[in-house]
Amino acid sequence: MKKNDILEVKIIDIGVNGEGIAKIDNYVIFVPFALKDELVQVKLLKVNKNFAYAKIVNIINASEFRAKPKCPVFMKCGGCNLQHTAYSNQLQIKTNIVYNTLNKMLKKPFSVNPTIASPKSYGYRNKMQFPVNKNGIGMYALNSHRLIPLDECPLSQDWCKKLIGIIHDYRSKSHISLYDEESGKGTLRNVLARVNEDSIMVTIVCNGIPTHLEILSSLLQNNFKKYGLYYNINKLKNNTILTNEFVHVSGIKEQTSIDFGIRHTLLPLSFAQINREVQNLIYAKVLELIDNDIVIDAYSGAGLLSAILCTKAKEVYGIEIIKEATDNANTLKAINSIDNLTNINGDCAIELPKLISTLPPSTVILDPPRKGCDKRVIAALISSKPNKIIYISCNPATLARDLSYLEDYYNIEFIQPYDMFPQTKHIETLVSLKKINE
Ligand SMILES: C[S@@+](CC[C@H](N)C(=O)[O-])C[C@H]1O[C@@H](n2cnc3c(N)ncnc32)[C@H](O)[C@@H]1O
Repeated sequence: MKKNDILEVKIIDIGVNGEGIAKIDNYVIFVPFALKDELVQVKLLKVNKNFAYAKIVNIINASEFRAKPKCPVFMKCGGCNLQHTAYSNQLQIKTNIVYNTLNKMLKKPFSVNPTIASPKSYGYRNKMQFPVNKNGIGMYALNSHRLIPLDECPLSQDWCKKLIGIIHDYRSKSHISLYDEESGKGTLRNVLARVNEDSIMVTIVCNGIPTHLEILSSLLQNNFKKYGLYYNINKLKNNTILTNEFVHVSGIKEQTSIDFGIRHTLLPLSFAQINREVQNLIYAKVLELIDNDIVIDAYSGAGLLSAILCTKAKEVYGIEIIKEATDNANTLKAINSIDNLTNINGDCAIELPKLISTLPPSTVILDPPRKGCDKRVIAALISSKPNKIIYISCNPATLARDLSYLEDYYNIEFIQPYDMFPQTKHIETLVSLKKINE
């Protein structure tokens, strides 16, 4: 087999990135955007010793689950992997990925609940970020810095289309120059925006001080109920999107929302989940699972979940490594007059073992980044054995590894994937674990 060969293959499975998998004898061929049971003609793009990557040339027998993508640049833009299949099938694919990934690591039998759907399968994103260059405003093609111009993104609602139109308008009225990566010249280089129930917060990232911002302010004012505008100065000649240099221009300075009775404010740099409805489904489940006891919220981010848990728990301890996020969590605590919350700024690998050794067994919530939990966190859990562990994971592979360390000491009560990111390969999974009583 060699590059550019054309073959006819049957797709027998779906891989962890949502791609089709075919086999010829034991040789594996990965075919992005192909579905299980499809017969496809493919062209080999990259041929290795044991596997190859190929692209579809022709679909000979299409799956009954094939769907028409909503986005005209799907397959070119790197954002989505699954628009080519019906939403019900996306959910099934995600359940299978979680099951297959955990099955490789766990010794005891287990089952995975069907993935809980996002209330919106399109139009769910509350945050977007668009690079700008001489080709326009859009998204980078997969693994590249080639900009694909866009008029809208179906993952976010009408606000995104409106905003892109406004940026084009501002550009033509202000004659602001567009950034060129090669020469490092030009001003406007990125546009970031987030919406909540009643407002939009826009940050334009510029290689110097932008001009005619009154034009952009009035366009935003005329098109949105409430808006805020910042610019961020970024003169770095690398891939960094934002620096710490924010200047408020006009409108609101922060966005305020209420979830589970907790008021929280967001600045342009603050972290918030991009699918708020699914975030709240997960938070509601976690709230249901905890008791009126001591709860540790490890990897607590900007602290919204910790604050929500305070409405039921006796005491909550949040641990987060990023200083600004802990500051945010302390602001949340103050504006909501919470008195049973302690926010610790530090590394869970150091702070969790310390904290856990001074507390009676309680519930520990783990919501680590993609690399999963540090070994010292797992070791501290195994030595002190809190009654319950609730693990929220954004990466089935590291979830599988961490559960394999815990399964001798904990029973898995349930494994529940949530579709936080429809149309993409990403999966969020909540696992509830209960201590095995000796
Ligand atoms: C997946 S986010 C979870 C955020 C939060 N629980 C939420 O629901 O929004 C993971 C968080 O862990 C933090 N983090 C990463 N490594 C850490 C470490 N070693 N110790 C403490 N926090 C860490 C990140 O800064 C990030 O805020």
